[in-house]
Amino acid sequence: MSDRVHTPPGPPVVGNVPKLTDDPLRFFVALQEAYGGRYPLVRLDPPVGQSFVVVLDAELVHEILGDRDRFARPALGPQERRRQGLLSSDGVLWEQQRSVLQPEFVGGKLAEYADITADTVSETIDGWPAEGRLDLHEELSTLTMRVITRSLFSRDTDPEQARAVHEALGQLSDEVEPSATDVLLPDALQSGPSETFEEADAVIEGVASEFVEWHRDQSDPPADMITALMDAQADPDVALSENELVDEAVLFLTGGQETTALTITYAFYWLSKHPAMRDRVAAEAAAVLDGGEPTWADLSDLTYTERVVRETLRLTPAVWNVTREVRQPTTLAGTELDAEDLLFMSTYAHHRDSRVWADPLAFRPDRWDGEVSRSEDAYFPFGSGPRICIGQQIALTEAQFTLAHVLQHYDVTVEADELALQPSVTLRPTEPVHATVTERSAPVSE
Ligand code: HEM
Repeated sequence: MSDRVHTPPGPPVVGNVPKLTDDPLRFFVALQEAYGGRYPLVRLDPPVGQSFVVVLDAELVHEILGDRDRFARPALGPQERRRQGLLSSDGVLWEQQRSVLQPEFVGGKLAEYADITADTVSETIDGWPAEGRLDLHEELSTLTMRVITRSLFSRDTDPEQARAVHEALGQLSDEVEPSATDVLLPDALQSGPSETFEEADAVIEGVASEFVEWHRDQSDPPADMITALMDAQADPDVALSENELVDEAVLFLTGGQETTALTITYAFYWLSKHPAMRDRVAAEAAAVLDGGEPTWADLSDLTYTERVVRETLRLTPAVWNVTREVRQPTTLAGTELDAEDLLFMSTYAHHRDSRVWADPLAFRPDRWDGEVSRSEDAYFPFGSGPRICIGQQIALTEAQFTLAHVLQHYDVTVEADELALQPSVTLRPTEPVHATVTERSAPVSE
């Protein structure tokens, strides 16, 4: 083993930093600060589970994520291990699935989804009181779930279904949460899914299966993602199985909405801490949208709103880490790695690296106006390389449209001064996020 993979000796170097198991987020930030710039890779040997290698060099992150031949995406969370959707598939199956799905995420399709998003935001705020208190995270989960099912499955979700999926996702997260290192350490997952996990998973599968069945019953199914997958089932070169089809629907039903709902929730949280920025989003929205619904053509004019979303994804990335497994013994940055070595890339820590970001802990959307080129490598909220998030543009559009459209009509204030975050499969708040909403009597001016 080359001496460039370093095992931190523990308390003397890591100092007062909490242990990995106690506070993984702070641990990885401290590790990045203490060793980044000196070591591209650091090997950690936790007391339980397998050792793993943390990637501290941002350029290396992109090299790893860009190289599917040498590095595989391991299926880590229990739900992923049970299912074969695009996120957890590998090899030829992944290539087939990605090529079947990619056309659903480009060009005119994105413009269609943008219209659906704008309508769904309008319908959501139509149901809000002129003044009141909301469970904002749940409200936004319903919104993003409706956008996904309307866009990709051509079906609306009733509030009951949306609540059931939101609750089941919370339960799945809690099942993984007891130690966030479960996410890092496949060995720790060998015990298999619990009863609660099975039940929550079954709720989500039930909803997803219903959408698939509905498509089967149509004599002329709509031209959407589920139909594209069904067509692929009939193609002997692809041969997608029935289970894989349902797994795909489960993946998009969950991953497609949860991450985006979290991102928008966090954006409202940051803007509540910075009311002047919130007013600036509201004023931009009033100027660009003039009281109406956002359209695809408006997206590029919502420039400040876009910066707010980018900055939110920097400080509170809904996917807080990306992992890869070494396929065959290989050398990386002069370091020999064994097959099955786990490479851990903390998005959260790279996004807060003080060597890269000026005033890294400050929420400053205007840092995205111009001079961020040197931080490009250290910013990967959607991953990078061939497996980069397929839903990136849908998520960004949803976040921009929701912030702008809501804030032109409502003032939204998240009650909590600080949000406690749980680094589970995604970065989730530990408690419901409540907000007060007040309808505006007049648009905010710039
Ligand atoms: C702000 C919201 C989102 C964030 C932060 C996010 C983040 C990510 C990240 C980091 C990856 C890469 C994982 C890896 O390389 O191991 C990923 C992959 C993926 N995302 Fe997203 N995502 C978001 C929204 C969405 C949406 C809206 C959809 C679907 C409509 C989606 C579907 C997927 C899928 C299917 C993959 C796997 C792609 C592949 O392996 O080919 N995501 N996402």
